[in-house]
Amino acid sequence: MSILNETYALSNGVEIPKLGLGTWFIDDDKASDAVRAAIEIGYRNIDTAQAYGNERGVGEGVRTSGLAREDLFVSTKLAAEIKDYDAATAAIDESLAKLDVGYIDLMLIHAPQPWDDFRGDDYAEGNRQAWRALEDAHRAGKIRAIGVSNFLQSDLENILAHSTVAPHVNQVLLHAGNTPEELLAFCGERNILVQAYSPIAHGTLLDSPQIKTIAEKYEVSVPQLCIRYTLQLGTQPLPKTANPNHMRSNAAVDFEISEADMTALRTLDERDYGEHAAFPVYSGK
Ligand SMILES: NC(=O)c1ccc[n+]([C@@H]2O[C@H](COP(=O)([O-])OP(=O)(O)OC[C@H]3O[C@@H](n4cnc5c(N)ncnc54)[C@H](OP(=O)(O)O)[C@@H]3O)[C@@H](O)[C@H]2O)c1
Repeated sequence: MSILNETYALSNGVEIPKLGLGTWFIDDDKASDAVRAAIEIGYRNIDTAQAYGNERGVGEGVRTSGLAREDLFVSTKLAAEIKDYDAATAAIDESLAKLDVGYIDLMLIHAPQPWDDFRGDDYAEGNRQAWRALEDAHRAGKIRAIGVSNFLQSDLENILAHSTVAPHVNQVLLHAGNTPEELLAFCGERNILVQAYSPIAHGTLLDSPQIKTIAEKYEVSVPQLCIRYTLQLGTQPLPKTANPNHMRSNAAVDFEISEADMTALRTLDERDYGEHAAFPVYSGK
């Protein structure tokens, strides 16, 4: 069976396809073609965000794919800067309008702090307000599952202590060379599915000699090894590409990484993101 046909069950029973397509840096006017191509190949899970500026294009791709809406899983994220209930409620409705696909399958708070203060001050009250807006939209049937992104344990504890719905998902930076073991364990114990963003480290792992050596051993590409790694951890990878050949090969991950190589990949430290370190998610600030 292809990974494209496999799903995880979230804690509320909603099924989420194990392999998703990331769309950061796919322009709005290219997103529709990319999403349609991915769906044609068999992808059923598409990840976007208000911050990517391509919700309109992603929604168009979904609507024109020829598939029934219920056969696709569409995620978006509430902008990291929005930390009050009314603004969050308005922004959720804006995403629904831009996507124009009826309902959202999964919506996440993009980050616990606004990007210009990432890992800075504590926005606990603002996150609780944003969460309440997501809970209300969830209850109203606008969103099937709700979650967070870039949340550390303390950020999650703030939500868990004050919510009626526990987060279904935490989407975090996770790739061979950056495996947040304690956070993974914390999420696992609370039945919060971890989505692995930047599973190829935004492309920087393509040039990693250590990863290349392990990939060669399995006669797979670096992206295939990286994607398989995150799947074997029980997480849900979101590799980004607009290239249909890459989409196809990224879904051909029907091989098994040995326990010894999983351990090697888990302990590897590959966090030199080069020029991309300018983004808060890679610099941690
Ligand atoms: N929640 C957050 O804060 C957050 C942050 C970052 C990312 N994300 C999500 O995670 C997704 C993925 O992360 P990402 O975009 O940073 O990076 P990524 O998926 O780790 O890497 C993407 C890079 O790898 C290349 N690539 C992909 N498949 C390939 C293949 N088979 N062969 C050769 N090159 C390949 C892509 O080039 P081509 O385009 O040329 O294929 C692109 O340069 C994002 O799109 C977004 O949806 C979320």
